[in-house]
Amino acid sequence: MEFRFNINKIFKNNISRIGNSLLPAGFIAPDRRTALDTTAYVAEIINTIGQASAAAQGLSQPVTTSDRLRNCDEQVVYLMTEDDGRNGLVVGLLKIGRKSLYVFDKFGDTKHVNAPCVLDFYIHESRQRSGLGKILFEYMLEFENLLPEQMAIDRPSEKLLSFLRKHYALTQKIPQMNNFVIYDGFFASQESQK
Ligand code: ACO
Repeated sequence: MEFRFNINKIFKNNISRIGNSLLPAGFIAPDRRTALDTTAYVAEIINTIGQASAAAQGLSQPVTTSDRLRNCDEQVVYLMTEDDGRNGLVVGLLKIGRKSLYVFDKFGDTKHVNAPCVLDFYIHESRQRSGLGKILFEYMLEFENLLPEQMAIDRPSEKLLSFLRKHYALTQKIPQMNNFVIYDGFFASQESQK
């Protein structure tokens, strides 16, 4: 995914963590004008890849928009980019955030949790099934100090279910009444987070 501006000036690493400032972590703007321009570019990137993710999942509305990210301190986006020797390419998006959820445990009892959630995940069509999703997901797990089974997954697609099965052996879902999928081990890991 290419943009009309050079993204290599914004993203110094191939994975960048972006919160509600819309500036990549560690980005130091020399002046206010550059900071404002950069947030506008990052907003455009997030809106474009958010749209592509929605299209890939058959959603009518994107889950990830720059406005939503700006207005929520509980969510962060990880963007994956490639330096192609020209303007650079954006190849992946992973949005996570904590949510207050009521979920069933495996005995059918309701529990109230404040769980880290996978909210949106997308690798560009030209790069899917080549291991980039795993690299991006692993980076996020390490940075956030999380295990995959600690996360609730919001409306996972078949591709994401397959991804979690393949890379993390997550197969045993605990049935829920909402759109979130949680796996065996979720509650044990919630306990260990206390
Ligand atoms: N069909 C079935 N499984 C798939 C597919 C596919 N087309 N693509 C990826 N997978 C799963 C498989 O388990 C695959 O292993 P396999 O090739 O041996 O069968 C594994 O993912 C490959 O791992 P990676 O290469 O690391 O994953 P990838 O870079 O493709 O990223 C992702 C996975 C993000 C799910 C990507 O395929 C994608 O963007 N899909 C379209 C959008 C989507 O469905 N996103 C998840 C929405 S739900 C949510 O975000 C909460």
